[in-house]
Amino acid sequence: MQDKVVLVTGGGTGIGMAIAQRFIDLGAFVVITGRRESKLSVATDRLGRKSSYIVGDVSEAGVPKWLIQEVVEKQGRLDVLVNNAGIGSGGALIDVTDSEIESVFKTNLFAPLALAREALPELIKTKGSIINISSTLSKGVMPGISVYSAFKAGLDHATKLIAAEYGPQGVRANAVAPGFTATEMTKDMDPGFVKTWEDLSPFGRIGQPEEVASVVTFLASEDARWVTGQIIQAGGGVMM
Ligand SMILES: NC(=O)c1ccc[n+]([C@@H]2O[C@H](COP(=O)([O-])OP(=O)(O)OC[C@H]3O[C@@H](n4cnc5c(N)ncnc54)[C@H](OP(=O)(O)O)[C@@H]3O)[C@@H](O)[C@H]2O)c1
Repeated sequence: MQDKVVLVTGGGTGIGMAIAQRFIDLGAFVVITGRRESKLSVATDRLGRKSSYIVGDVSEAGVPKWLIQEVVEKQGRLDVLVNNAGIGSGGALIDVTDSEIESVFKTNLFAPLALAREALPELIKTKGSIINISSTLSKGVMPGISVYSAFKAGLDHATKLIAAEYGPQGVRANAVAPGFTATEMTKDMDPGFVKTWEDLSPFGRIGQPEEVASVVTFLASEDARWVTGQIIQAGGGVMM
């Protein structure tokens, strides 16, 4: 990863921050983004001099284009786009509002597609790659999480389509599908729900962000040069 430039959306916390750390450990320069400057600033203090941050809401039209422009202008290139920013959504479908469906769509599916579109001209130049952060729930079926699951399933399919469309120009696209992982998104969830996920895994526990991050850096590396269009589960064997 030496001298590679990586953009990790939502890199100020959780899985995104672990991904940023892992790329830096492997020699890359990482730009992280998010809406809360306080989180990003603390994160880059920890990540060190091979990191920087940009504050922006990826769900807003125009922001994906601006973010990619900023990275390329300041760092001179882009080798890897990690579409990690995402929001959760749960509850019976009957109770989900239009505005919730819209904001989950805009963050979890519109933004990765718009960011990919803007990044592709740069990734074609660097023969780079896109890693989308999906979820085991993109394939697995669990009642009470239909909106989140449906857009993650869309993201999986988008990953394959990007891989097919831009493979001829040397760009790879893959997704990593975490299972239940200990992050800000899950920290206040009901202990009974957490136990359900522990029981779903043959290992009897939930995952840690670092256990997802190492799969992401593998997929971005030269070792995975023959891997594209794949959705790789990093979920401790849940929903196999
Ligand atoms: N934790 C799990 O169990 C789990 C399981 C499967 C998949 N995932 C996926 O993993 C990814 C990372 O989630 P996480 O668990 O690490 O949760 P997290 O700590 O809440 O991370 C989500 C990150 O995305 C950023 N973000 C959210 N909306 C954004 C927006 N509109 N614009 C820019 N940044 C935005 C957040 O920062 P700001 O709030 O400051 O913007 C935050 O840094 C998500 O795509 C999630 O769906 C998580």
